[in-house]
Amino acid sequence: MAKLRHFLQFKDLSRADFEHLFARTRWIKNQFKRYRRYWPLEDRTLVMIFEKQSTRTRLSFEAGMHQLGGTAIFLSTRDSQLGRGEPVEDAAQVISRMCDAVMIRTFDQNIIERFAANSRVPVINGLTNEYHPCQVLADIYTFVEQRGSIKGKTVAWIGDSNNVCNTWLQAAEALDFNVHVSTPPGYEVEPERAGLYGTDHYEEFRDPMQAAKGADLVSTDVWTSMGFEAENEARKRDFEDWQVDAEMMRAARKNSLFMHCLPAHRGEEVAAEVIDGPHSVVWDEAENRLHTQKALLEFLVLGKVKTVKKK
Ligand code: CP
Ligand code: NVA
Repeated sequence: MAKLRHFLQFKDLSRADFEHLFARTRWIKNQFKRYRRYWPLEDRTLVMIFEKQSTRTRLSFEAGMHQLGGTAIFLSTRDSQLGRGEPVEDAAQVISRMCDAVMIRTFDQNIIERFAANSRVPVINGLTNEYHPCQVLADIYTFVEQRGSIKGKTVAWIGDSNNVCNTWLQAAEALDFNVHVSTPPGYEVEPERAGLYGTDHYEEFRDPMQAAKGADLVSTDVWTSMGFEAENEARKRDFEDWQVDAEMMRAARKNSLFMHCLPAHRGEEVAAEVIDGPHSVVWDEAENRLHTQKALLEFLVLGKVKTVKKK
């Protein structure tokens, strides 16, 4: 039985833990591609609680659990007592007695923190207003897979300083790279909300072209995240000049990558020629949600499993 650990934000794990996860992901992905059965979580159950919509997160956790020999159960606020005001603490006590891990997609980070404080099993953040650690885990794995170590590299974040942006900033501290952030005025990074230790690993730019200059990776996300729909019209105006287009990609390094957590809005935060163009690795990025989360589930439920090299 592994020591109880949660993945509520990126900084919950250390650099050594991430190195382990990347190595395990490589191995688990390879097994999957060769149709080799790997069932370390046989008879184990993951409960997935969704308070917001999802395609990738639900699918990757559900398929991932199945592929590891276990089962995933989907609960939504709409059809469980969570939507009728049962205290999060009580729900955590009950749910965590019936399963081996819990994944939650919700609003305030505080909700998932309270759940985890009352849980007997590992809790994984499947997106909150503040963070999206599973996404950035997959993104960095994708970078490592295609370009090698991310240490010392520059990531340009163009657009909203949202949950994905905050997580990139935490990741930069954990894995020692730099983030160039460009947001419209009024949408700047809030270091405390982002849960940062300092400002050493990121720089803010008024001009998105300057942020993209020399970047190894350019990333963006929707202008309006889930839960902020009331601001949609104002955001469309405010973010107009923060579209990642071909000119911006030309300012980045020649072999730079483009990532987007998806779903994307072509013609808003990204031009079609970029997301559908030669720098884009968005489909590999989406697929890697599956492989990285399988490594994460294995790690949280079983601890550090050694990779046995087969001849
Ligand atoms: N990127 C991501 O988390 O997608 P879903 O909202 O579809 O889960
Ligand atoms: N920032 C987006 C990510 C969706 C996967 C949101 O929170 O809606």
